[in-house]
Amino acid sequence: MTISLKPRPAPAPVSAQSHAPILAAEQLSYTYPGRGYDPVHALERISLAVAPREFVCVVGPSGCGKSTLLRLLAALLHPTAGQVLFEGQPLLEPRHRIGFVFQKANLMPWRTVLANVQLPLELQGLPQAPARQRAQELIDLVGLAGFEHARPRGLSGGMEQRVAIARALVHNPDVLLLDEPFGALDALTRERMGAELLRIWQARTKTVVMVTHSIPEALLLADRVLVLSPRPGRVRLALEVPLPRPRHRDMEYSPEFAALARQVRETIEAA
Ligand SMILES: Nc1ncnc2c1ncn2[C@@H]1O[C@H](COP(=O)(O)OP(=O)(O)OP(=O)(O)O)[C@@H](O)[C@H]1O
Ligand SMILES: [Mg+2]
Repeated sequence: MTISLKPRPAPAPVSAQSHAPILAAEQLSYTYPGRGYDPVHALERISLAVAPREFVCVVGPSGCGKSTLLRLLAALLHPTAGQVLFEGQPLLEPRHRIGFVFQKANLMPWRTVLANVQLPLELQGLPQAPARQRAQELIDLVGLAGFEHARPRGLSGGMEQRVAIARALVHNPDVLLLDEPFGALDALTRERMGAELLRIWQARTKTVVMVTHSIPEALLLADRVLVLSPRPGRVRLALEVPLPRPRHRDMEYSPEFAALARQVRETIEAA
């Protein structure tokens, strides 16, 4: 596979303290208004600072507010209290510089892979030729060269998610938010997709915030793992992952990895 986009140097792992955050949550709370039922208090005073090029994973029990947090960070929802800052400025509406990948790929079934990836650029009014070229570059980047003219029904789940990732990258966002993007995939495909994501992160120097249910996945991918409490979600643990990069699956068998995994699991279970 060729990567036709000029790769930037692989990012050095960064700590949140050493850079001004690109994305920050300040005392973020969110309550879903009850409509015929009681309001749901989903998040409670979450504070978080994500450094440029940092890879953060968010884990926590089902229903603790992970998806809500991610939607707030993308300004797809507006906080009940607190604020989200993007490069130090309040984030009030979705921005092209923040890409989002949902758990389900949500592709348009009647459009080809190329046309799906190209769609955000069409909506923006970019002329056909450069839009097509850009979409093609991203299809190459996610390893789908040769499938440009396939329709979603002819793709596997992993391939569909790659298309969704390519589509989220089409505006060349600085921040990529991913909500359990590999949740529906089998374990092996999921591992491969995690490795692909790391490659893309390194090639394109993105800041990534990703929700996952998998503790090993979080530890293999992230610079920092955030553990949320049960609803209303609060930050229970923000764990720096000191494992060297590049990381590989075999690290899971190391005592260091096991100790980190235990710490995350015990924090989730203690709740
Ligand atoms: N549109 C909505 N209206 C009302 N309540 C909602 C809505 N969306 C989510 N909730 C509630 O808010 C809480 C947090 O939901 P959220 O989807 O953020 O959790 P999650 O941590 O992503 O869960 P999961 O791991 O199962 O995806 C849940 O209790 C859920 O029932
Ligand atoms: Mg969710």
